[in-house]
Amino acid sequence: MWDDQSCHWQGLSRSTETPRYEALARIINSPEYFGANVLDIGAGEGLLARYLSRDKKYTGIEPSAAACAGAANVTMIHSRIEDMEAPLPSEVVVFNESLYYCSDPLSVLIKAKKLFLKNKGLLIVSIYQKPSTWRDLFSSKMTNARATAILRKYLQRVRWRYTEQKIGVWLIFSAQNAAS
Ligand SMILES: C[S@@+](CC[C@H](N)C(=O)[O-])C[C@H]1O[C@@H](n2cnc3c(N)ncnc32)[C@H](O)[C@@H]1O
Repeated sequence: MWDDQSCHWQGLSRSTETPRYEALARIINSPEYFGANVLDIGAGEGLLARYLSRDKKYTGIEPSAAACAGAANVTMIHSRIEDMEAPLPSEVVVFNESLYYCSDPLSVLIKAKKLFLKNKGLLIVSIYQKPSTWRDLFSSKMTNARATAILRKYLQRVRWRYTEQKIGVWLIFSAQNAAS
């Protein structure tokens, strides 16, 4: 969740975060996805949209009212992914540092495939590779490491062709919705 109390996520516009947005945009802006509908799940203030080429039709899904209010000149849907029921067929679906905030990443990935990601569409997931702590290991909470493992297992199960790219502290998965 966007932490309105601590303003924790408001730091995402810092320049240290730029390489992550740029890396995602390099993939999404490739000629293959010209004119694509881009669905950004857990979009925050929709910062990714600033890095996308003008041909893209960007929509963010975001549960925080404060983050939605801070999003300028982009289409936002104020919702948690878990509460979305209507299909939004998209050529590109993105989880940019948001998958591990969902308590059940697997069900969310299945939902994204069923409702949002078009056949041959592109799924991009960025996960900060935070060092795990003992507390992470023994708590029942979702962690970055667990979400990474769940995602890998899912992509292998559906047999999608995918790549993992390490950009600084982030691991960026890029997968095509088509059995390999
Ligand atoms: C680290 S922020 C990333 C924001 C944005 N993707 C970015 O990189 O600029 C994580 C975001 O995931 C959102 N989020 C948390 N749980 C969510 C859920 N169940 N469904 C959709 N978004 C969620 C938070 O509100 C927050 O905006």
